[in-house]
Amino acid sequence: MERVVLVTGASSGVGLALCRRLLEEDGRIHLCIACRNSQKSEATRDLILETHPAAQVSTVEVDLGSLASVLHVARELRCRFQRLDFVYLNAGIMPNPHVNFKALWHGLLTGKLLHMLTTAEGVMTQTDRLNGDGLQEVFATNLFGHFILVRQLESLLCGNEKPSRLIWTSSSNARESAFSLSDYQHAKGQESYSSSKYATDLTSVVLNRKFNKQGLYSSVVCPGLVMSNMTYRILPVFLWKLLMPIMWLVWLFKQKPEHLDALVKYHSCTSGLGKSYVEPRKFDVDEETAEKLYGKLLELEKQTLEKYSDLLD
Ligand SMILES: NC(=O)c1ccc[n+]([C@@H]2O[C@H](COP(=O)([O-])OP(=O)(O)OC[C@H]3O[C@@H](n4cnc5c(N)ncnc54)[C@H](OP(=O)(O)O)[C@@H]3O)[C@@H](O)[C@H]2O)c1
Repeated sequence: MERVVLVTGASSGVGLALCRRLLEEDGRIHLCIACRNSQKSEATRDLILETHPAAQVSTVEVDLGSLASVLHVARELRCRFQRLDFVYLNAGIMPNPHVNFKALWHGLLTGKLLHMLTTAEGVMTQTDRLNGDGLQEVFATNLFGHFILVRQLESLLCGNEKPSRLIWTSSSNARESAFSLSDYQHAKGQESYSSSKYATDLTSVVLNRKFNKQGLYSSVVCPGLVMSNMTYRILPVFLWKLLMPIMWLVWLFKQKPEHLDALVKYHSCTSGLGKSYVEPRKFDVDEETAEKLYGKLLELEKQTLEKYSDLLD
């Protein structure tokens, strides 16, 4: 039986490369790409078919920053598929990134420059805003929209003959210091991206606790530093070109979920000689905080879904 794989944020960067790698790995999968609108979906599908003409590629449209759109696409996926084997929760934003060049200079002098560039620690701030649902946009797009999607797709993900997998594209920029339970949407700070990725790591930990028994496994990956629309906005291209690594997300596609460690993030790395490899690194997460955040997400889900009760089955 063919495996059904859903990828969000498939229209560019990591998501598009991931789709191609998945098809190189197994040309028989049914790949469902989720893009923001039908033009992007069709253009992405054509790009994938150029290199994999025999691939089965279907499309859905979703704006992960809009709950109505997420509920709508979840309903469509439930009608279209009986199960989902892999869901790559990859779409993400980092709006208006600003680089603190003073901090970079300091990093250069203290030998921390490479670490700062690969994790953006102490170097980058963003300007966030409220979206149409009254949620912070970065939190809503990077985490909450995906969280609601997963919750709405439980019937396709749980209780299948073989385990199903969630794979979140997190970041090495996910930092506890940028996250606070009392401001989990990060309305007050300037590191909304880092906060949303840390909240993603926490959420994945709890999803494993709640759903492993029902055959659903969640993993978190960092694709490394990848040249994409997102990163091009941060620094001049020539600087990035000096640092470009190779993405190896597909490694997770091959692993048995029962053998993956729920408290580890899988980092895609490249050696000085260009060899790519995956390095599991222990999470910097406190499981009690993870449970508390999960409780808050459920609370927020309840509040926000009341508004859209007509879109629920
Ligand atoms: N690039 C890196 O170095 C790096 C490092 C660590 C983690 N990541 C993570 O990797 C993931 C992919 O990023 P990328 O680097 O590939 O950047 P990208 O090229 O900008 O891709 C982002 C993808 O997310 C989609 N997206 C954004 N907002 C959306 C929304 N509201 N609804 C639906 N789709 C939306 C974009 O669609 P549109 O084309 O419609 O905008 C695009 O397909 C992100 O989660 C990012 O945080 C990237």
